[in-house]
Amino acid sequence: MPFFRKSPKTNDEVDWSSLPRHIAIIMDGNGRWAKQRGLPRTAGHAAGAETFRTIATYCKEIGIEYLTVYAFSTENWKRPPEEVRAIMSLLGNYLTEALADMERNQIRINFFGDLSTLTPELRALCERAHNASMRYSKAQANICLNYGGRDEITRAVRALARACAAGERDPDTITEADISAQLYSAGVPDPDLIIRPSGEIRTSNFLLWQSAYSEYYFTDVLWPDFSKEELHRALASYQKRSRRFGGV
Ligand code: FPP
Repeated sequence: MPFFRKSPKTNDEVDWSSLPRHIAIIMDGNGRWAKQRGLPRTAGHAAGAETFRTIATYCKEIGIEYLTVYAFSTENWKRPPEEVRAIMSLLGNYLTEALADMERNQIRINFFGDLSTLTPELRALCERAHNASMRYSKAQANICLNYGGRDEITRAVRALARACAAGERDPDTITEADISAQLYSAGVPDPDLIIRPSGEIRTSNFLLWQSAYSEYYFTDVLWPDFSKEELHRALASYQKRSRRFGGV
């Protein structure tokens, strides 16, 4: 029995022997968390980045293989420039720290999204963190950065269309696996559980292809307040579901 097992038994008790392999999270509610405290929105993102550190470390501890987080969407560029700069700066801080602490964290860092529009400094940090962490294989954090589900599918379609136009592919032989292989998530299993805090009940262009059979967990808790206990609730809820993948 792992040391973190909670007793006494409650409805939220987690079965540690059947955890999801892949959890994805829409880290929502940072702005509202800050507003409730009379703080600037950027303070909410800073608190959200802390929560990410806590949850990523904890997921690794309990044996979750993949954690994917929505850090910045293709639509988030519409936010005020100072907020965009603050989020990018928090990402930069996290990656700098992750590079320094790599041996302790042992988390492989990966990115889903088009990094070409980031500043050269941030892009270089992303590449360094990714390359340096490739040697760890037990836990992987996928940071969705300048990511959009529709954008990702559009890029995959373009790549396959190019291959067909070049005569390298026959359109009639294209399979779902071929499309999956063109996505940022190529090689990563689809998320078993997608968590969205903050009371919003929509997907917001997150992992559109990959979420076909994911279980969702929605909570009113704002992301900066999301805790290990809240994760336990999400896991316990997930474990009560019957996943049939279209079968009976
Ligand atoms: C959504 O909340 C949150 C974001 C768009 C940014 C998330 C970024 C971070 C948590 C910081 C950096 C990340 C890492 C991985 C270090 P919102 O601003 O839309 O909240 P609101 O709906 O309450 O306004």
